[in-house]
This record gives sequence, structure tokens and C-alpha cells, in this order.
Amino acid sequence: MLPIPRTWRVLTDVRWHRWPDEALFGVRRLSEDGVHVWRTGLDVPATRLAGLGAYLTPEEMARAERYRFPSPRRRFIAARGLLRELLGAYLELDPARLRFRQNAWGKPLLLEPPDALQFNVAHTEDLALIAVSVGGAVGIDVERVRPLAHPDRLAARTFSPLEYAAFRELPPSQQLEAFFAVWTRKEAYMKARGWGFHLPPDAFDVTVAPDAPPQLLADRQAPAEASRWSLHDLAVGTAYRGSLCVSSLARGP
Ligand SMILES: CC(C)(COP(=O)(O)OP(=O)(O)OC[C@H]1O[C@@H](n2cnc3c(N)ncnc32)[C@H](O)[C@@H]1OP(=O)(O)O)[C@@H](O)C(=O)NCCC(=O)NCCS
Repeated sequence: MLPIPRTWRVLTDVRWHRWPDEALFGVRRLSEDGVHVWRTGLDVPATRLAGLGAYLTPEEMARAERYRFPSPRRRFIAARGLLRELLGAYLELDPARLRFRQNAWGKPLLLEPPDALQFNVAHTEDLALIAVSVGGAVGIDVERVRPLAHPDRLAARTFSPLEYAAFRELPPSQQLEAFFAVWTRKEAYMKARGWGFHLPPDAFDVTVAPDAPPQLLADRQAPAEASRWSLHDLAVGTAYRGSLCVSSLARGP
């Protein structure tokens, strides 16, 4: 096996990748303890969209049709088609042949071939991130950093008491960035566990300062989980905050 280029394994190094060519290149380098993060745009030309849509099952197309507006409909088709293309490249399978299932809370997982790869998808507007691992569960989230009328009120509603207290201590100039840092760190964990918002956001704590090392500090419902996961901020550009949550299995011992 070729040596794994360091940049591909540094979890905070998110790059634009063109696929499938680079995915075929990358699959040889996805080791037991590695996680790849892929970044792509979803507003693709009509001909490309038609090609991506051709991979989707009738159920996926039916779900696309339920979007009332064209933009989210097209982005759903693009995201699902690109996911199929990317995973198909890793597995050297026709993207249309992949079958997905959902866990009890809606997290998509591979059904066919069964659990061959772990993955998770996040999108915001035109931007999508996909995390891929062979070693353990992953969760990913991305948000565009946008002005909020009352970040403090939103934080009071969604953060744990410990997080909210730390948030209030930050200078106002840091609070918007901190809000999205905490939000994406929390959602990455909730998605890695596979529960999404069925996991109460105030039941666990993450680090709050935008420049603090991201960390899951405690999970009051499942204390053992705190040491089972690592959080990573993703360098997606200044307009976004992105976070990745990886099981310790995926990082090796
Ligand atoms: C999963 C969830 C956290 C996604 O949040 P979001 O910010 O809207 O969307 P994101 O872009 O981050 O992620 C969407 C992707 O996450 C994945 N996903 C869906 N459910 C998931 C779960 N339980 N765990 C992990 N990933 C999940 C899917 O790939 C989805 O992409 P798709 O819609 O194209 O299939 C959220 O929708 C959720 O918890 N849903 C389940 C509970 C629910 O429906 N609550 C109602 C609102 S409170």
C-alpha cells in the first residue's frame, strides 16, 4: 500500500475534491484509523444533475419530488447522487447499485454492501460535506456563519447550562462565532451517535470558545461516551463553521 499523504489524514484539512477520479485515488488511502472529509458544491449544471439523478432509487426520487421548491429539490438530488458516486468510487461499485437503510432516528447507513463504509453528510445551501471512514461511526455538521438577531436567546434555548454560562462570559465580539462553533460541535456529536435531535442538546457539554480545542466534555445520559468520541473543527473557510465527530475506534488506539 502506498504511504498515506499526511494532508489526507489531518482531519481539520478539508479540501475541495473533484470526484470520482480523486475518490478512486483516495480509497487506496482510507485506512482503519483514517477519516476523509470531502467538500463539494451542490448547484451543478443541468446535465450533471441528470446524471446524478439517474443513480437514485424511485424512493429517493419520490423524496426529491416532495420538495416544493426547485432549489432544495435539485440540491437533494445532487447531494444523494454525489454521495452515491463517492461511496461507489471507494467501493468500486456502480453508484446506482448501492442500497441505503436508515437507523431508528433517520441516519443513512449502507445496506448493500452492508456497513462497508461509515459516512455522514451535512449540507448548508450550496455546500455539502461528506465524512467517510472504515473504522467507526462519524458525524459531521456545517453551518454558514450568518448574523443572528439574538444569539444569546438561541444559546439559552439550545445550549447546556455549562455551555451557556461559558458563552455568556465571552466578549460580545466572539459570541456569534462561538454560537456556530458550539452548534456544529454539538450537532456533529448528535449525528455521529446517530440520534440527531433525538439526543437532547442540553444533556451533554462541548467546549465553547471558538478557538478552544473542540472537545466533548461530558454526556450526562451516557457518561462513558465522553471518552469514546473526538471532535474536530473543520477549516471550511471563514464564512462557515464545520465540525466532525469521530469514534475513538476510527482514530486508532
Ligand atoms: C439529522 C439532523 C440533526 C440533521 O440536521 P440539519 O442541520 O437539518 O441537516 P444536515 O445538513 O446537518 O444533515 C442532513 C443529513 O444528515 C443525515 N442524517 C439524517 N438523520 C440523521 C441522524 N439521525 N443521524 C445522523 N445523520 C443523519 C442525512 O444524510 C441528511 O441528509 P439528507 O437530508 O440529504 O438525507 C436533524 O434533521 C434531525 O435530528 N432529524 C431527526 C429528528 C427530527 O426530525 N426532528 C425534527 C426537528 S427537531
